[in-house]
Amino acid sequence: MRKIVISTGGGDAPGLNAVIFAVVNSASRLGWEVYGSRHGYKGFLDPDELVRLTPDDVEGITSTGGTILGTTNKGNPFAMPVPNLAGEVQIVDVSERVMASFKRMGFYCHIAIGGDGSLEIAHRFAKMGMPVIGVPKTIDNDLEATDRTFGFDTAVATATEALDKLHSTAKSHDRVMVVEVMGRESGWIALYSGISGGADVILLPELPFNMEAVCRKISENELHGKHYSIVVVAEGAKAEGGKVLDRGKGEAGRAEVVLGGIGEWVAEEIRQQIGKDTRSLVLGHLQRGGSPTTFDRLLALRFGGAAVRMAEVGQFDHMVAWTPPTMSAVPLEAAIRCRKHVDLNSDKVLTARSIGICLGDKE
Ligand code: F6P
Repeated sequence: MRKIVISTGGGDAPGLNAVIFAVVNSASRLGWEVYGSRHGYKGFLDPDELVRLTPDDVEGITSTGGTILGTTNKGNPFAMPVPNLAGEVQIVDVSERVMASFKRMGFYCHIAIGGDGSLEIAHRFAKMGMPVIGVPKTIDNDLEATDRTFGFDTAVATATEALDKLHSTAKSHDRVMVVEVMGRESGWIALYSGISGGADVILLPELPFNMEAVCRKISENELHGKHYSIVVVAEGAKAEGGKVLDRGKGEAGRAEVVLGGIGEWVAEEIRQQIGKDTRSLVLGHLQRGGSPTTFDRLLALRFGGAAVRMAEVGQFDHMVAWTPPTMSAVPLEAAIRCRKHVDLNSDKVLTARSIGICLGDKE
């Protein structure tokens, strides 16, 4: 009888529970025992944070958002923030403790569900001798090795619905609405929701934008009798010659700065340059919440099932990837090497241009 452990790390994404459901049920049918490590690697450091997961425990969770195991983006065991006796936070390497506990518990393998940061950590543990299988998660869809990550489709649906709703209020007030969506280095959410939600302007991290081009598009709308406009901007987009806007480092132990502010910046520029009544909003974590779409549920269930099949044959230090029409196993090292960016020559970008959407460049 084999014992496996599963963890969820980094920002949550709709579909995490569906992966857990698939792993628990697939593994249990093989006669294996499944454990869940709560809040990333905490279950390896504190026995109270390690929970046994049976098919009964996960019944009905496929349709739910979040993760029943909890998650964290400041739980890297190689650089863990730990408060000392003086109440100061120190960054400590607890990876050896994680390894020792993994061995002591007699686990056969670890299925780590996460984005690039969590998969990099998983790969470091693989190099230390932990049999690990990665499952790709992120609403940003920015992992090169897999055609899709789960969570993205739900985030796009949420953003598209928000854009649909903004049309009527923008039109009633003759306003420009600027919507900031997630997407640190890749503009997938902005592009997909912007095209589907009838945006006039989409600004991507992949293409530094020119405010004159943005304002020209809005002014052209006016000339054609359309007195409102919708601008979608990815949080990681930046103006030509400008920089990505952030809100600082955030909590101790997180690897990335907290992005934000570009939507309001763009709104202010439009206000100043062409005098339009402008409002901005940040969709933020709404995009990470809620029930996963059918697409995300199915993808997440397929990832979970495939991860257990990889465990059965001992294919460790690999990530399960969707390479349509099949699932495949990609070495973790390759999976974390490159980010997937929007191809500016892809048919989606060409479609956006063909239907008159401005991408903030002079074209
Ligand atoms: O990587 C996913 C993501 O949703 C990014 O788009 C965003 O910048 C980040 O997570 C936000 O993370 P947090 O929950 O720590 O604010």
